[in-house]
Amino acid sequence: MSEEAVTIGWKAPSNIALIKYWGKRANQIPENGSLSITLANSTTTTFLTFNKKEKEDQLISVEYYFHGERQLQFEKKTDLLLNQLSSEIGFLKNYNLIFKSENNFPHSTGIASSASSMAALALCLVSMEEIITHNKLNRDDFFCRASTIARLGSGSASRSVFGGLVSWGLIPSLEQSADEYATPFIIHSTSRLNTIRDIILIVSAKEKSVSSTMGHSLMNHHPYKEGRKAQANENMVKIIEGIRKDNYQAIAEISENEALSLHALLMTSGSDGLLLKPNTIKIIEEIKYFRKTSGLDLFFTIDAGPNIHLIYYDDQRKQVLAFVESTLSQYCEGGKWIDDHIGNGPEQLSPALRN
Ligand code: DP6
Repeated sequence: MSEEAVTIGWKAPSNIALIKYWGKRANQIPENGSLSITLANSTTTTFLTFNKKEKEDQLISVEYYFHGERQLQFEKKTDLLLNQLSSEIGFLKNYNLIFKSENNFPHSTGIASSASSMAALALCLVSMEEIITHNKLNRDDFFCRASTIARLGSGSASRSVFGGLVSWGLIPSLEQSADEYATPFIIHSTSRLNTIRDIILIVSAKEKSVSSTMGHSLMNHHPYKEGRKAQANENMVKIIEGIRKDNYQAIAEISENEALSLHALLMTSGSDGLLLKPNTIKIIEEIKYFRKTSGLDLFFTIDAGPNIHLIYYDDQRKQVLAFVESTLSQYCEGGKWIDDHIGNGPEQLSPALRN
């Protein structure tokens, strides 16, 4: 690296979807709208160091390090994304790019690492673009651009550039919504959803047999494809109403329906789509029983894997933690679970804080 090397750093969070993005068209356009909660504690930190090549080049030059080790799989994914972007961002080929990235949560725990890592990477690229072009974007344009780039890397990453509740995909009743980028879903400051928490129960930390990307492609010829789109749209309308009225019951019912529908689609995809484990089902049964007997407001959601996200509100934290310790942790691999909650979105680490 020459002396003029510049380093940019961003920390981006993961997110958990209540309405699931499942199925996509060309160019990472989702088949249906999705809605997620941005997490606070589960994050990826990425530093991008760039310096100008001595001669103009026709090739992207990128290296990607994960926890200090060269990560060729992610490097290939990054290279593909950068090549795709290079027709629009002409200067990319003229720089040596080195990404150094770390997750603060273990790999394959049901936390979408592609969401936080692609979001952090996209934020670094937009910061780099501002520096190279000397064109500082306003806050909204900056994050909208980062979301668009993150989407090209991984659909769910488009939502991780914002905090709070976030939607992605064209939703007729949401004015600002778009297929190309995510937008924050504004909730009232007094809404109970501002205090929502997520306990991630690690049933298995093994690599999944079907990746999300593969799962999306299995939707292309799925017999329930059209039905799924109609269901997701209907669930979106209902959850928006539920959120606006702070109606816990509606939010819980729709979220659980979405999680189980995702797995029903996976199981009927004609591949090895059974990702739930016996302990996943046991946890679901325990949650339902506890909810009935305790009267507490809690529900579950699941991503494309066996681990359960237990969603609840901060004012019931004491009882929920006791329930997890006494009953649910026995179904977790090595008794492991992760404590997280709704978060404010990404944070710039260097060169300067963007607020
Ligand atoms: C089940 O965003 O991981 O978590 O766009 O192929 O990278 P790619 O897929 P990805 O899919 C996430 C699917 C999901 C639901 C969701 O997060 O909305």
